[in-house]
Amino acid sequence: MNLSKPYLISSADLSLRDLKLIFEKAKYFGDAPNGTIFDDLKNTSVCTMFLEPSTRTKISFELAAKRLSAITVDFDLASTSYVKGESLLDTIHTLESMGIEYFISRNTDFGTAKYFAENSKSKILNAGEGSQDHPSQGLLDAYTLIERIGSLEQLKGKKICLVGDIKNSRVAKSNFNILSKLGLEISTCSPLEFQLPDSKFKNYENIEQALRDNDIMMMLRIQRERSETFNKFDFTKQESLEWYRDNFALTKDRAIAYPEKLIMHPGPANFGIEIDKEVESLQNSLIKQQVRNGVLIRMAILSLLSRASRKNG
Ligand code: CP
Repeated sequence: MNLSKPYLISSADLSLRDLKLIFEKAKYFGDAPNGTIFDDLKNTSVCTMFLEPSTRTKISFELAAKRLSAITVDFDLASTSYVKGESLLDTIHTLESMGIEYFISRNTDFGTAKYFAENSKSKILNAGEGSQDHPSQGLLDAYTLIERIGSLEQLKGKKICLVGDIKNSRVAKSNFNILSKLGLEISTCSPLEFQLPDSKFKNYENIEQALRDNDIMMMLRIQRERSETFNKFDFTKQESLEWYRDNFALTKDRAIAYPEKLIMHPGPANFGIEIDKEVESLQNSLIKQQVRNGVLIRMAILSLLSRASRKNG
């Protein structure tokens, strides 16, 4: 069976059937011995095109493509003809002429991956766009929860709270789309400045209450590169840091007090601000599994897309 679309542009596009297909395929890859090489993308070339920094997403997509036997190349912005004025779309057309079929795109501008998909014959994957969408992260987060909780049926109805900088987080938006399709009860916990103006979710103004009420806490990075500077959140000032930690941080003491609550963070974390470093290694933390599952989910997406034809797209 194929995914409903021959590309991965938006978390909102993914049907429940797509989600189940991706999770089944990720489990198939996860059940194989670590490092097993598959031939799903043999004779296929994949290009990573990251215009924003990344460690987890970029390297796990590259590793996933290599574990599926693809040839991988990286578009290193600073050393390409982009700096001479060649557009990204012209770059894709040029690389298509060399036989590249997959482009994995991270960009600041929302809509870039859609624009590439509409104007090229390649399989385009959105690897994170501005503060709007990060579909593969939402997928790996959901998969990590299913793996830990046991099944989709058992995950349904669980209460998850997304804590922190919701407004600037593309991970939050992807999780809202995917986790609501899976039947989770979603809430947020953040100060007014980090809330979405049109949010339909209950918001907690203090993490202690959110911890009491929810089964799963997803901590989010404060996106200092996207936030406008406002005095309250100038974390070089001790009083701002203390205020945020008092009200919204998952400190070691708080996490230890609730050993039955599952803890997630998409990374990279601002340790000491939204979460303490010690929390990462607690038995109820899923943070390392999230990173591990990033490879499996991206293998699943690439593999499933290999069966789709862009002519149908
Ligand atoms: N979670 C995530 O997207 O991390 P990177 O920015 O390191 O890829």
